[in-house]
Amino acid sequence: MRIVLGVAGGIAAYKAVLLLRLLREDGHAVRVVPTRAALEFVGRPTWEALSGEPVSTEVFEHVDEVAHVRIGQEADLVVVAPATADLLARAAAGMADDLLTATLLVARCPVLLAPAMHTEMWQHPATVDNVDTLRRRGIHVLDPVSGRLTGPDTGPGRLPEPEEIAAAALALVHGRTSDLAGRRVVVSAGGTREPIDPVRFIGNRSSGRQGIELARAAHERGAQVTLVAANVTLPVPPGVHVVAVESGEQLRDAVRSAAKDADVVVMAAAVADFRPVRTATAKIKKQPGVGPTPIELVETVDILAELVRRSPREGQVVVGFAAETGDEAGDVLEHGRRKAIRKGADLLVVNAVGADRGFGVEHNEVTVLDRAGAEVARAAGTKLEVAHAVWDAVLPLL
Ligand code: CTP
Repeated sequence: MRIVLGVAGGIAAYKAVLLLRLLREDGHAVRVVPTRAALEFVGRPTWEALSGEPVSTEVFEHVDEVAHVRIGQEADLVVVAPATADLLARAAAGMADDLLTATLLVARCPVLLAPAMHTEMWQHPATVDNVDTLRRRGIHVLDPVSGRLTGPDTGPGRLPEPEEIAAAALALVHGRTSDLAGRRVVVSAGGTREPIDPVRFIGNRSSGRQGIELARAAHERGAQVTLVAANVTLPVPPGVHVVAVESGEQLRDAVRSAAKDADVVVMAAAVADFRPVRTATAKIKKQPGVGPTPIELVETVDILAELVRRSPREGQVVVGFAAETGDEAGDVLEHGRRKAIRKGADLLVVNAVGADRGFGVEHNEVTVLDRAGAEVARAAGTKLEVAHAVWDAVLPLL
């Protein structure tokens, strides 16, 4: 996504540096458009280095690329943080006396303004009217937070934290409201490794991508998210709390502890069904002339079934995943239905997997079943789109 990050001249401009990093780490191209005054607080080299794009404040710079029109036209999202009283006034008046206000006039994508100023300025009738005008025009204006301001004084006027601004901004593009705001969710992702000796393990092909996208989607929709990540190497979305684990036993402990105050637990991790009875403390050596040492296995605890049996919290919604290949005993969905009934989770997300399907790829296709095995939803698309479809199915159960 192409994002324009406007920065107006306020002390909170330093927080926009963190916001820029979050948006970049989330994989977006960000063009920073500061006002002249913003550069008094944070200089051009910082913005250019962190965005990797040229930075100008004026409509008369980079005239050859008609920057004052192009930047706004090409944007998928515009975020201004901090938006000062002056910036709000100029935007409300439809002025175009610098690159940022010109961009705001051209942009037809979602626009989010995050004001920050002293309480007196925020509460002044001029600012109140300007905010009303902008909101009437469909511009999203966040309310500033109450708290310590630049001087010793406190009151409404603080810029919200960069994570919150990023979540609110990205939610605009995904066209969803913060329908998971105030909810705590736990998502497990990745594949467990059951150690045989210090260098070997029994593992599986799960990359954790679907679980990560579930975490991202929930975070975008306002939830507080804990991701219990088993051997995940893919980048994790900013703002998501990560607990890294390796074995099924560690995953079980982490999920149980995080589930204590969670509204929803989604078990997207591929947990080993069996683990070696013993883990050798030293590397198992090949014995010349002797065949391989058999590895004795024992069944692991089914974490999902345990959550269903003894939910640590009243009304908690538990969602399982079923990765199926289908076989002579039934197709993917038949296996899924049986598993839904057997596991008893509120929802079971069934997907077809195989060497070339499901694992690590960007797309997924799933059927969501209820505890009786009846179809609740179907979704196909990117793993993020599938994740949103899963949360859409969870919402009515909350
Ligand atoms: N699961 C779990 N704990 C385990 C094994 C699986 O919590 N020890 C969870 C997975 O996270 C997933 C669901 O159970 O949400 C289904 O996992 P899957 O491997 O498809 O099912 P199994 O019960 O292992 O059935 P089978 O291997 O026979 O298909």
